[in-house]
Amino acid sequence: MCGIVGYVGAQDAVPILLEGLHRLEYRGYDSAGIAVRTKTALKVHKSAGRIDRLEAKLPRRLKAPAGIAHTRWATHGEPTDDNAHPHVDCTGDLALVHNGIIENGAALRAELAAAGHTLRSETDSEVLAHLIEDARADDLEGRVRQALTRVDGTYGLVVLDRNTPDRIVAARNGSPVVIGVGDKEMFVASDVAALVRHTDRVVYLDDREVASIRSTGFSTTTLEAQPTQKNTSEVVQSAAAYERGDHPHFMHKEIYEQPEAVERALRGRIDREFGVAHLGGLNLSARDLLDVRRIKLLGCGSAYYAGLAGAHMIERLTRIPTDAEPASEFRYRNPVIEKDTLYVAISQSGETADTLGAVREVRRKGGRVLGVVNAVGSTIARECDGGIYMHAGPEIAVASTKAFTCTLVCVALLAIHLGRIRDLSPSDGKRLLAALERLPDQIREILDQGEAIRGIALGLTNRQNAFFIGRAAGYAVALEGAQKLKEISYIHAEAYPASELKHGPLALVSPTTPTVAILPDDDLYEKSLSSLEEIRARRGPVIAIAHEGDERTAAASDDVILVPRSEPVLDSILMTVPTQLLAYECAVALGRDVDQPRNLAKSVTVE
Ligand code: AGP
Repeated sequence: MCGIVGYVGAQDAVPILLEGLHRLEYRGYDSAGIAVRTKTALKVHKSAGRIDRLEAKLPRRLKAPAGIAHTRWATHGEPTDDNAHPHVDCTGDLALVHNGIIENGAALRAELAAAGHTLRSETDSEVLAHLIEDARADDLEGRVRQALTRVDGTYGLVVLDRNTPDRIVAARNGSPVVIGVGDKEMFVASDVAALVRHTDRVVYLDDREVASIRSTGFSTTTLEAQPTQKNTSEVVQSAAAYERGDHPHFMHKEIYEQPEAVERALRGRIDREFGVAHLGGLNLSARDLLDVRRIKLLGCGSAYYAGLAGAHMIERLTRIPTDAEPASEFRYRNPVIEKDTLYVAISQSGETADTLGAVREVRRKGGRVLGVVNAVGSTIARECDGGIYMHAGPEIAVASTKAFTCTLVCVALLAIHLGRIRDLSPSDGKRLLAALERLPDQIREILDQGEAIRGIALGLTNRQNAFFIGRAAGYAVALEGAQKLKEISYIHAEAYPASELKHGPLALVSPTTPTVAILPDDDLYEKSLSSLEEIRARRGPVIAIAHEGDERTAAASDDVILVPRSEPVLDSILMTVPTQLLAYECAVALGRDVDQPRNLAKSVTVE
């Protein structure tokens, strides 16, 4: 949510900041702003709307050796010029960009206003600038620390002060901040995506840490001014991985690179000889895993739906009772944490506030959490007891695609790993691993049907509503399919377990409401086909996603998309891909902003 970038060094900060903002635009895109420190003044420019509008407003000769910038996803106050960051103090000498939420912002506003401060925005963030203005420490770092002791809430922030040359100050509590180490220049951002073109050496700030960043280096302290030691990490992704290349949208790129992403998720993790999966980062021995009596997967949005599909996989292969729950609900219901339950947090970004909150709740109560995370070095990855990286590569489009399929691949590996410790035979293990290795080519086969799927998607563009149905893991695919369609095409889509149709939703099935049916040729096939007949009897149009060679489903549907046969436990991976293409093509045909749909942001780092 929101993107921050900062620079101090010998180059002109302005183009670096703007380029960084473009790379972070997927994080938030309702307004943007920049503040730079020239030799004589602090200059601030802000604009509602996309970054292009800010760029158009900037004076051509704006140049400076230090600056900060922000792209916003509104929480407090509408997306207006005034509410855009950076926010300045009363003197206009100090500017600040902030991600997160200041929970006591309203009380602090009232107090600051009563003390004579003029607040120009409706945001909670602005109070930080005024608190720093009032702080009485000797240096900027000290003033920032002092101000932050007054604050309840989360922040990733960067401060620029006209009277403190060659330095910017950053702080973090619950919202990521990463320092990029250059040669006689330093960068700071909320996400490595803004840094990769400049450096591959990064330092992640921890919660309650404050950094003083100069062109020649940096130092860090706790909020209590105790110095801290930091390690530099190397960013493994190339800058190209963050670029759209020849694809019309990032979402297109991310859908079409799924075969390679799945290959990466599998690489080095398959032992064909013993039919086992190697998952080095679990930090749990076979003996620890034998004690596991229950598994709970936690995630938000698509990560939760992946958890639902993954729970089916695990339960099926291990016979360990497994379920999934939205992390956002779990964290607030004072959950009972059992010592023989294994918790698995799923997150592409590794920064989702609700999922992180759930991880902390489990650990606070003594539970063990594994992370299935894409972003290396992210907060969730660092706070879990162990985990599995997806290796999907950067996912930039707001609508998650390759992270969903790679999550399921990782959960399948976990299921095989756990299964082989229990009753899954070596031959079953080998068969399942071989099926996983076939997935990349099978996904390619589905992607090759892109043109035909576009034709089917065009039929959805004039619809107001759509249903998605499926059974068991197919229901999780239906939920994800409906989520993708509504997220980017804005067509209202709802998912139901096919078995629930006649308990209510069938009332809405009509010739104008299409149903996308997830219909694998599995042991529930006959029942799924009956649901399809119920829809057809009400003249509801049906798009079926079925297995190759399934002529009965083809005959009972208006349109059918056929996917290759795999092990039934892996069907949810392959059956998801056509739903991604349907949503994508539909959104493109409707002229939607596919990568940055309205009201959404890529990484939800606020509650
Ligand atoms: C997916 O298309 C969504 N944009 C959203 O539901 C997302 O999956 C969710 O916010 C969780 O994000 P995470 O995987 O980064 O934790």
